[in-house]
Amino acid sequence: MNNNIVVAIDGYSSCGKSTLAKALAKELHFIYVDSGAMYRAVTLYFLRHNIDLEDHAQIADALHNIHLNFHTQNHKTFITLNEEDVSEEIRQMHVADKVSSVAAIKEVRAAMVRQQQRLGRSKNIIMDGRDIGTVVFPDAQVKLFMTADPKIRAERRYKELLPTNPNITLEEVFDNLAHRDYQDTTREESPLTRAEDAIILDNTDLSQDEQLMFAISHIEPFIAE
Ligand code: CDP
Ligand code: CDP
Repeated sequence: MNNNIVVAIDGYSSCGKSTLAKALAKELHFIYVDSGAMYRAVTLYFLRHNIDLEDHAQIADALHNIHLNFHTQNHKTFITLNEEDVSEEIRQMHVADKVSSVAAIKEVRAAMVRQQQRLGRSKNIIMDGRDIGTVVFPDAQVKLFMTADPKIRAERRYKELLPTNPNITLEEVFDNLAHRDYQDTTREESPLTRAEDAIILDNTDLSQDEQLMFAISHIEPFIAE
């Protein structure tokens, strides 16, 4: 079996990228890397240490002190920031509100892209994010660009956050997604854009099983090679 297949999944906020990526990794026995979790963990570090996003020396110093790792247990993936499991905290709104500003910083992107490329070396890997098919793995065998109706995306994310954030409103979630999509598509450094050779997957009306079947049909020919 080919052992260096890269599947790059990019797209807007909360359109099902990580749900699809995790399901694919389980089904195909590929390694899954959530690149968004890396930007979220860096953001959490910046918030905790009051890093000034205009101060490049402070940012370089902070990046030097940030060590990120992924661990898998019982098919669940955890991300650690300097050995601390931050998988839950990085999903909270205080991180979501700042992450796109942190992810727009050139030095932050350079450091993350380097680590992501290292993680993908000589492995079958599925990585999701915003610049995976365009910058991190421009030669990926399969590139998917995911999208869905913004209202549906906000409703899905709202349902996900409500149990741990009982005061959250649908409007707040919708605004966060819209604002991040705007920042992510208009930033100077590696803006979110569809790679020319990426397949569009609009899952507004698709179940998780249907999107999984769609993706597998595009990956299987490379596994058979
Ligand atoms: O899961 P959700 O779509 O809400 O976001 P995420 O994948 O966790 O990514 C959080 C943020 O990190 C995005 O809104 C982007 O600003 C940034 N990001 C990025 O710039 N490049 C990536 N490859 C992945 C995420
Ligand atoms: O990774 P990304 O931010 O793109 O999205 P996600 O976290 O995978 O998905 C956001 C929410 O949409 C999750 O609660 C998924 O269970 C849900 N979802 C869905 O209901 N139907 C789909 N076809 C895909 C995702």
